[in-house]
Amino acid sequence: MIYLDNAATSWPKPEAVYAAADRALREQSGNPGRSGHKLSLAAGRLIEEARLLAARLFGVSEPERIVFTASATEALNLALHGLLRPGAHVVTSSAEHNSVIRPLAALSAEVSKVPADLAAGVDPDRLEAALRPDTALVAITHISNVTGTENPIREIGALCRARGIPFLVDAAQSAGAAPIDTEGMNIDLLAFPGHKGLLGPQGTGGLYVGAAAALRPLKQGGTGSFSASARQPARLPDRYESGTPNTPGLAGLAAGLRYIAEIGVGRIRAREAELANRLLAGLATIPGLRLFGPPPGPTRAGVVSFTLEGHDAMDISFILDDSFDIAVRAGLHCAPDAHAAAGTLSAGGTVRISAGCFTTEEEIDRCVEAVGEIAG
Ligand code: ALA
Repeated sequence: MIYLDNAATSWPKPEAVYAAADRALREQSGNPGRSGHKLSLAAGRLIEEARLLAARLFGVSEPERIVFTASATEALNLALHGLLRPGAHVVTSSAEHNSVIRPLAALSAEVSKVPADLAAGVDPDRLEAALRPDTALVAITHISNVTGTENPIREIGALCRARGIPFLVDAAQSAGAAPIDTEGMNIDLLAFPGHKGLLGPQGTGGLYVGAAAALRPLKQGGTGSFSASARQPARLPDRYESGTPNTPGLAGLAAGLRYIAEIGVGRIRAREAELANRLLAGLATIPGLRLFGPPPGPTRAGVVSFTLEGHDAMDISFILDDSFDIAVRAGLHCAPDAHAAAGTLSAGGTVRISAGCFTTEEEIDRCVEAVGEIAG
């Protein structure tokens, strides 16, 4: 099979990820931070290693500020429900995922959505114009999961910092695929999945919680620390990590993070751009095919969306899977505003092809040929 759905979850994983999760289940399977025996200590070490590696990757000097969650969705919920009061004013963009849109709706937040250009992303001047004295948060996705468009995170971070407004970045598509320096980019909250660009197992993710962002926890419970107190500990990461963690998943995530540290995000980014550029060039030759998102370039993200005149996006993805054994995703990709901006909402969205760091040129070429055959 040709797997081109890495924006949903990356596959395959590096061999070390499978081995680490297996070893954690067999040999390091105590409950971390709870007991004092060898298996518990081994599990605890695994998790702290994952935390340290994530902190290094994201330019975080205090690793305890990396809080592990089950997904980027849970991390975004922790950030939004933990920070905002009902009715708060929040600035977002038209490229956001339902993991931001829906918590904000549940909080009855007053949302100013800055239009995100399909090629250039959010214009910092337009974002600045949307800021108000009572703005409680700016929440922006780093790279769109629909079009692969990158937003100018560094510039937006500087605007937020100058006004003392907390800045939340959704790194669902960028963690492991683009450089992120939370402290240098003035990011206060960074939500990341473990199972996409970080190459770990599903059921992993995390939130960087900066010193300026005091969050209410989403859950309370056992942390293995301060157990005589009925109050949730103030200490990080315990404050936000009640309950037995996903140790095998985090062991796999640590292996994914180690793999990325060895290869380097710069090389991964260049590789994904090469593949995306090849894909864009191939698809552009197919009559009736319309591409969305940024043009080819040295930092083009691996997410490519298109529509094909006279064909339903879902049908194309079904035919690619059924007749060509090529896995892609079609539809709205849980980001309806991005489709409203692209004009693809009422037609049922786009076909999305997302290469990963293990995708080959041959796989891209076979996918272009297959789409060409469907078009013909
Ligand atoms: N948010 C993931 C995607 O874009 C699941 O497919």
